[in-house]
Amino acid sequence: MKSKQQTSSLQNNFAETIHKIGYRFSLSNVFNDFLTMAMCACTQNPLTQKSYYEDEYLQTIAPYKDSELRHEFPKAFAHLVFEMEERLQDSGRGNDVLGDFFEQNISNGRNGQFFTPPTVCEFMASIVSVDGGVEDLVQTEPLRILDPSCGSGRMLLAAHRQSKYPNEYYGIDIDRTCVKMTALNLFFNGAFNSEVMCANALSPTDFVISYRISMFPLGIFKVENKEDSLLWNMHCNSFAKQETKGKMSDKIVVDNRPFSERGKNNASQLVLF
Ligand SMILES: C[S@@+](CC[C@H](N)C(=O)[O-])C[C@H]1O[C@@H](n2cnc3c(N)ncnc32)[C@H](O)[C@@H]1O
Repeated sequence: MKSKQQTSSLQNNFAETIHKIGYRFSLSNVFNDFLTMAMCACTQNPLTQKSYYEDEYLQTIAPYKDSELRHEFPKAFAHLVFEMEERLQDSGRGNDVLGDFFEQNISNGRNGQFFTPPTVCEFMASIVSVDGGVEDLVQTEPLRILDPSCGSGRMLLAAHRQSKYPNEYYGIDIDRTCVKMTALNLFFNGAFNSEVMCANALSPTDFVISYRISMFPLGIFKVENKEDSLLWNMHCNSFAKQETKGKMSDKIVVDNRPFSERGKNNASQLVLF
């Protein structure tokens, strides 16, 4: 058991604040609940001045309502934003504070998930050359960039960091916690017009839930119906395309064209692993 003095000094950064709540509650639940509430906090209904997902927020905070530790969640949110901002210019470290925490404290020993080191993500984004490798390239329409096993989304963040164009970023992951981390990471880094879907990327029709990262209106919005998900539709189409080619590709591609243009052979596609 830690003394009061020790615990009060453990509030200086995101990880320590989450750990402080984790001494009393299950750490993985605390982290997952933090992600859920942070996402709820990222939207506001202008009519009610409350989150569109107020009910989900209240349901998530309910287990903590009798504990003073509930006040640590907003502090963790503030620390997260501050640390992400602070690390923004540090491409060697990246600003995936959530992914670092997950890797070091949650996944280790459970599923043993590890993410790609930030420097490797930057290198991969540079060789895939998001902007076509051409210095003065004038990109007339946004590219749609997919990581079909996105983890915390750090490869998408590296691609976003290296592109001077407002591209669209898409992530798929089978793990719901990873999907939430990616959605928050894209939102906080300003990668709008993006979407992150919880699904088995190896199956063309699988769908659990998806999140749209939007600028107007500002926020992270749930897409609960798969037919309403742009990513799900594109993902399905990419499988259909592979089948008509008569061979299975080892790459999953996103068709970059509007739906009305599908079938014409003028797509520009980008695969990012
Ligand atoms: C090694 S991590 C890589 C994450 C990220 N691309 C990176 O480079 O940091 C692999 C990720 O793939 C996800 N994954 C595994 N099987 C999957 C599947 N069938 N469909 C979607 N995601 C999957 C895992 O949940 C995990 O987050």
